[in-house]
Amino acid sequence: MNDSIDLKDYIREIPDFPKPGILFRDITPLLAEPKAFQAVVDRLADYYRDKQITAILAAEARGFIFAAPLALALGARFIPIRKPGKLPFETRAFHYELEYGSDSLEMHTDSIHSDDRVVIVDDLLATGGTISACIELARHSNAEIVGCAFLIELAFLNGREKMNGCDVFSLIHYD
Ligand code: PRP
Ligand code: ADE
Repeated sequence: MNDSIDLKDYIREIPDFPKPGILFRDITPLLAEPKAFQAVVDRLADYYRDKQITAILAAEARGFIFAAPLALALGARFIPIRKPGKLPFETRAFHYELEYGSDSLEMHTDSIHSDDRVVIVDDLLATGGTISACIELARHSNAEIVGCAFLIELAFLNGREKMNGCDVFSLIHYD
């Protein structure tokens, strides 16, 4: 059973990437081990299965990796949030700060509605800039934001504090 898998064993630490002083948590070893990748999707799906989720939102690129299989596991729609200029229809944009830079994200204006129950998924919570941008984009639609899910939470960066009481579920913590 994949209950016994310690997901931390599949995260590789790369010092000074992409900038000096950043300890990068590399998820590629986990993605290369199907049992570990499956365990992530199963654990996220177990948490949200009885919560009537209708849409999974995620920001590119790493958020997509976990959000797409979770959407399929829950029978929910997958809604991409993308970097500027990538989505072809009418978009809404939000600017945000990162642990190592700044960026904007965009979402199609017709992608979620006030009767949706959404989960926002990302691989990692650091400063919370990216997830806050996704929350702001989702709030415009008046959808119910049931929670935010992460594979990894860098708890020492206090990203949770930016999330205005939104339920946070993360599988790996670094304190
Ligand atoms: C990374 C990661 C999260 C975000 C977390 O994405 O995938 O989305 O940073 O940091 P934050 O909590 O400080 O916002 P990145 O912007 O590096 O893009 P990528 O997914 O395209 O690699
Ligand atoms: N995104 C933001 N901070 C990160 C980190 N330390 N490792 C991997 N991805 C990140």
